[in-house]
This record gives sequence, structure tokens and C-alpha cells, in this order.
Amino acid sequence: TKIDLVFKIILIGQQNVGKSSILNQYVDREFAEHYMSTIGVDFRLKTIKTSSGKIVKLQIWDTAGQERFAALTNSHYKGAHSCICVYDITNPKSLASAEQYLQTTINQHGIDSDLIYLIGNKSDLEDQRKISEKEGKDLSYKYGVNFLETSAKNYLNIEELFDQMVEHLVSL
Ligand code: GTP
Ligand code: MG
Repeated sequence: TKIDLVFKIILIGQQNVGKSSILNQYVDREFAEHYMSTIGVDFRLKTIKTSSGKIVKLQIWDTAGQERFAALTNSHYKGAHSCICVYDITNPKSLASAEQYLQTTINQHGIDSDLIYLIGNKSDLEDQRKISEKEGKDLSYKYGVNFLETSAKNYLNIEELFDQMVEHLVSL
């Protein structure tokens, strides 16, 4: 198959927010309850067809949220077209961490804010919710980034997230 375009996407956010789960659902349609923290970095490929018929290859980098990998994570931004910044709606610390990541992504790595997605994951855990959808949206407005709530567990908004991002990338 002829590939028309290749895009690099980087997934960032504090540990345990569900970055790898979002990626595994998107690429393999699989979800694991068991937590296996990412060590270093990992990347996955997925080829999709856009609404305009273009064949797009996505190279999606899954970084480690653990603090000890912060420097390594920074080195993986090179060549990234867009960024998915994830927090966990049950964990306020993860939202504060996401704000730090947004600042770094915009100020140090120069990724356009309209190509950044702030994602509130674990939306299935409504009874444990600590961050309202409005709080997430307000943070996205502050930095001019896109916003969605997802559930990797229930496959909610996962495809929508990547579809929206790719439609935007191909339109540039
Ligand atoms: P690091 O690799 O350490 O940075 O973590 P991560 O952000 O990749 O998190 P990971 O995807 O490994 O998920 C962490 C834990 O949260 C796992 O036990 C997952 O099963 C769980 N999890 C991930 N997404 C969801 C979700 O949408 N809903 C629920 N209920 N649990 C989730
Ligand atoms: Mg991971």
C-alpha cells in the first residue's frame, strides 16, 4: 500500500493515568486491568485511511510517566507532530502534572497548542471522579489545546481522539 503521510504522535502524562491503555485499545482493541508500568519508551504503528482517502501511517510513542524517566521522555519529542497529554479524572495530582507537561510541550518543544490534546481518562470511574469535566476544559482553554474525556477501559472516545487529530494533521 502506498503511504501518503507519516505522523509522529507522543503520549505523555503522569504514571498510571492510562497512556499505554489508550494506545493498546486504539491499536489492538485490548484492555488489561493489570498495571504494567512502561519502562523507558515504546512505540506502536497504525495505518489508517482518512475521510479524504489518504493513507496515513501513525507512529505513536508511549512514554513512561515515572519521574525517573523524565529526561528520556523529553528526548522523545524530536520530530513529533502532535501530543496527547493524559490525566486521570480520579487523581487531582495527575491534572497538576498534566499542566506541567502542557507547559513543557508548548514552551520547550514548540508543539502548536491546536495539535495538543488534553485527555481526562478513566471516565468510566464516575463514582470516584475528583476532577469535573469543566475543570479539565478550563485547563484546556488556558493553554488553547483540545480536550476530550476518554475511557480506555470502555473504548470511549478513543477512536474519536485519533480521528480528530489525524483529520487536523492532514488538513495542515
Ligand atoms: P506508566 O506507563 O507507568 O506511565 O502508566 P500509564 O499511563 O501507561 O498507565 P496504564 O495504561 O498502564 O494504566 C494504569 C492502570 O490504570 C492500569 O491498571 C489500567 O488497567 C488502568 N486504566 C487505564 N485506563 C483506564 C480506564 O479508562 N478506566 C479504568 N477504570 N482503568 C483504566
Ligand atoms: Mg505506560
